[in-house]
Amino acid sequence: MQTRNLTPVTGVEISGIDVRQVSDADFAAIEKFWLDRCLIVIKDQHLSPSELCDFSRRFGELEKPPASAGRRRDEEAPEMWVISNVIENGQPIGALGSGEAEWHTDMSYIPEPPSASVLYGREVVTNGGNTWYANMYAAAEALPADLRAAIEARQANHDSSYTSAGELRKGMSDVVDVKDAPGARHPIIRNHPVTGRDTIYLGRRTNSWIVGMEVPESDSLLDALWAHCTRDEFCYSHRWSPNDLLVWDNRSAIHRRDSFSADERRVMWRCQVRDGSFTAAAA
Ligand SMILES: [Fe+2]
Repeated sequence: MQTRNLTPVTGVEISGIDVRQVSDADFAAIEKFWLDRCLIVIKDQHLSPSELCDFSRRFGELEKPPASAGRRRDEEAPEMWVISNVIENGQPIGALGSGEAEWHTDMSYIPEPPSASVLYGREVVTNGGNTWYANMYAAAEALPADLRAAIEARQANHDSSYTSAGELRKGMSDVVDVKDAPGARHPIIRNHPVTGRDTIYLGRRTNSWIVGMEVPESDSLLDALWAHCTRDEFCYSHRWSPNDLLVWDNRSAIHRRDSFSADERRVMWRCQVRDGSFTAAAA
């Protein structure tokens, strides 16, 4: 196994392994990179849907696909879904289209959001479509004292109405007042359940609200937090090669996607892992 850091703080590239045949000792090393660096990029994997699920399951029990998930499912791998802009017989085969996707944490709008997100590049585009990651440990460490004081012990509401591509989810209606947005509340400064380190946990900007604050005050604080958290030094931008397998820690990284041409095909397979620390905490 060869590794190299992708930026000073965010992401490790791993090559020279086949994830279908990883020993427990090697997996422990991979898991540590994932926890420490927020993102692992495993090069050149050749996986079937069920093999992707098998590897994803080594991080924990798999989550059911969210309501916005793509239509195409694999019968042998029901936990896997498709992110794609491809239209077949008038129907999209996957979620999110070809537009930009705003910075977000996957499924932070549920009470127990997933730990690992797994994304496997089957068909990638030649222009655009980069996925960006920002390290929220580094952002928490560098947070100015006045901003930290303003959000210490505060929670944010994470709206569940819209996808990161700005589409209203099935069965949802438009949010008129962010104080009434459906979703889940989480501490903004969140202690990572495995590493014990502080992270900044923002979810997504659209319809976010700092619980208990007037909306203008909440909006200006959230704008300041987002500007801080997406500074260049916390970020890595991934240009996809076919067969790249990315796994990020959804508790310590936020991510976004650049738009790309609707004329190019992009097909990604996707799994999400339940955060076992919630079960452990309840037991
Ligand atoms: Fe996402």
